[in-house]
Amino acid sequence: MVRYVMLANSWPLFHRVGGVILSRWAHFLAGITWIGILYYFNFVQVPSFAAFEAGTRTEATAKLVPRALWWFRWGAMLTLLSGISILAFQDQFDGDYFKTAPGVSIAAGIVLALVMFSNVWFVIWPAQKRVIANAQNVMAGSPADPAAAGFARRGLMASRTNTLFSIPMLFFMAATSHFAPFHTSDSSGKRGAFLGIVLTLAGIIALQL
Ligand code: HEM
Repeated sequence: MVRYVMLANSWPLFHRVGGVILSRWAHFLAGITWIGILYYFNFVQVPSFAAFEAGTRTEATAKLVPRALWWFRWGAMLTLLSGISILAFQDQFDGDYFKTAPGVSIAAGIVLALVMFSNVWFVIWPAQKRVIANAQNVMAGSPADPAAAGFARRGLMASRTNTLFSIPMLFFMAATSHFAPFHTSDSSGKRGAFLGIVLTLAGIIALQL
């Protein structure tokens, strides 16, 4: 009985430490890993590779890019899983959470982040697998795959979309708990329209780039 009471009393502490704190901490670590490598690809690697000699570029694509992409895509996976874990442990999370202003804010962030996640796993990674395989084959003395340049371009476009999306996505992630106007529980009944606009803009940008 005493043991049962002690266990029951320690549950809120376990819940806060184990659930709320650890999932947020994991979310930051995974998020910076993912988005940090995304910015590295866009602002450092792409312009540097364009200035490399062809042989140097092939070697870097065969040996450096697979490692960067491993951390990139698994960082994206852990960001998603830890984000879902934050939601699951949130005190205010019930059927009505997504009707409140913080709920609408995080829904907007999650919509943008899910487009980005899909780009990583379903566009960038499959395209880059072809580019890496081509570089490794060329290094082994096989002829180059003529389709490789097209795959590289497709991956690059999705990567640019993600770089652009990261700006509003991070705004909504942080706004949920930290920006005063988002703290009210009243979303003034326009949440459907707001999320509709976010989705439409996200769709237009994703298709344009
Ligand atoms: C992939 C899907 C994602 C989901 C499902 C998700 C989910 C969440 C949730 C539920 C919160 C808590 C909001 C709150 O109550 O304060 C949050 C916060 C946050 N997320 Fe995400 N997120 C995702 C992607 C990302 C990405 C890609 C980043 C990039 C770094 C990110 C960075 C953050 C940050 C900085 C916070 C603020 C944490 C705080 O203020 O304590 N998230 N996210």
